[in-house]
Amino acid sequence: MFTLPELPFDPGAFGTFISAETFEYHHGKHHAGYVKKLNAAIEGTLYAQMTIEELVAASRRDDNVAVFNNAAQHFNHSFFWQCLSPEGGEPSGALKTAMDQAWGSTEAFKTKFSDAAATLFGSGWVWLVRQSDGTLAIRQEKNAETPAGTGDVPLLTLDVWEHAHYIDHRNDRARFIEQFWEHVNWEFVKSQLK
Ligand code: FE2
Repeated sequence: MFTLPELPFDPGAFGTFISAETFEYHHGKHHAGYVKKLNAAIEGTLYAQMTIEELVAASRRDDNVAVFNNAAQHFNHSFFWQCLSPEGGEPSGALKTAMDQAWGSTEAFKTKFSDAAATLFGSGWVWLVRQSDGTLAIRQEKNAETPAGTGDVPLLTLDVWEHAHYIDHRNDRARFIEQFWEHVNWEFVKSQLK
């Protein structure tokens, strides 16, 4: 049985970026719905014994779309909440060094990531990942697709499904992406760079 994680922050503390009302729907309805459907789909199967990463990898391998979509969306949303912080900040230490190696500067990285988020057609997620050779890369993933259960280590993500921004920004995805940079939990991102 998977459970809906508590939000690791005050949902009313993000100003115009994400309102408490959006969290109420995004976490309390959408994410909760994925967890509920996932539990119903895996009950009594071997999938029920797996960690979420194992389940994402196994259902992808088995081409079990119903399980994969709900498992991946549970992983993605749980990860996304941890990437957010009301206070924000800037990348530092080994993370900043790796980003500078890949893109030249933090600003250049943000521009590339923002472009990937803005140009993702339809629903999906943009990720910063550490590849198996240790270098960093940006990934555009459609719908529920995720680096979880692949050779990439997820570091940072942004949900660009319409349900992530529609209440607060309507169809202005660019404004939502711009405000994301004021609320990234870089300490969490750095902690994933193992
Ligand atoms: Fe979402």
